[in-house]
Amino acid sequence: MTISSLFDAVPRKDGEACATLTIRRPDDWHVHLRDGAMLKAVLPFTAAQFRRGIVMPNLVPPITGVEAAEAYRARILAARPDGSDFTPLMTCYLTDATRPEEIERGFRMGVWAAAKLYPAGATTNAHHGVTDIAKLAPVLERMERIGMPLLVHGEATDPAVDIFDREAVFMEQEMLPLLKRHQGLKTVIEHVTTAETVALVRAHAGRAAGTITPHHLVINRTSLFQGGLRPHLYCLPVAKRERHRQALRQAAISGDGNFFIGTDTAPHLRGTKQAECCSAGVFAGATALQTYVQVFEEEGALDRFEAFAAVNGARFYGLPLNEGTITLEKRPCRIAAAVAVGAEDVVVFRGGEELPWSLGEVRP
Ligand code: DOR
Ligand code: ZN
Repeated sequence: MTISSLFDAVPRKDGEACATLTIRRPDDWHVHLRDGAMLKAVLPFTAAQFRRGIVMPNLVPPITGVEAAEAYRARILAARPDGSDFTPLMTCYLTDATRPEEIERGFRMGVWAAAKLYPAGATTNAHHGVTDIAKLAPVLERMERIGMPLLVHGEATDPAVDIFDREAVFMEQEMLPLLKRHQGLKTVIEHVTTAETVALVRAHAGRAAGTITPHHLVINRTSLFQGGLRPHLYCLPVAKRERHRQALRQAAISGDGNFFIGTDTAPHLRGTKQAECCSAGVFAGATALQTYVQVFEEEGALDRFEAFAAVNGARFYGLPLNEGTITLEKRPCRIAAAVAVGAEDVVVFRGGEELPWSLGEVRP
């Protein structure tokens, strides 16, 4: 892809030309699609942007077995809008009781694409997660042997650890020892939020990768308190200081093959966000690509956007690249402020704002 091809001017309906960027269809390597009415409401947004998605298993109850994952995958396929070719890639929720045989069985059947490690209690629906990562060794050894990636929610769970330090403490106390114990294991550190984690990924290039969310590229911890408390910007790991946001932007645009899209789009009903105790999660799925491409343009790195969006992740997972293309247009758009789910709704990240980039044509 050459720079000149990034800005093919196409006439708009009103006759004025706008710049466009056409890339290979991208994938979302970290998405919460939920189930039931919520699944039906949010899936069209992800399916309009991404060809494949790594689907998080933190449902209630969590997806821990192969048959449950197959049934969940069928519900996702059934909820797709007409004509959609979105492909869900399923993950296994690791618990203290996960058996290596179940992991291998699901992977060989083509059901599991990866397994997800939630330290017990680290985040939404993580209370069935792993209480002692060292005890997971037989499972991780099996994954290492069969080439199945481990996806990690990297936050310490000790309530005494400052919430803004939980990722850093986890990386020191758990992630580095894990990487040392399992040197052949492919690991994805999900939703990287600190400069130090970026450095850790770089130091383990080829066997550790990092996903980066759209929101962590555009908000910092001060944004959470801008003019008052902003529950819809609260997620885990929580946004960090500005210097970390800058490091994430540099990692994303660097062209380094170990960083790729993982939106961590995590819808919650408005009532559970605007509550006495707000649940963690940002519904980023409806404005993800528009936000990522804006960041790459701001950083003068549009020529590297395709790698981050549509190449690095597939290569890391060992999956084929997508064939089709999506065109992004430098034309203002406004996405709805909220999406209805039954009688309630979910607030859209950057919804109602004027965004400089729009989604254009998808060619399968
Ligand atoms: O903010 C978050 N929300 N972080 C997670 O790790 C889980 C997610 C969710 O499921 O809502
Ligand atoms: Zn997540």
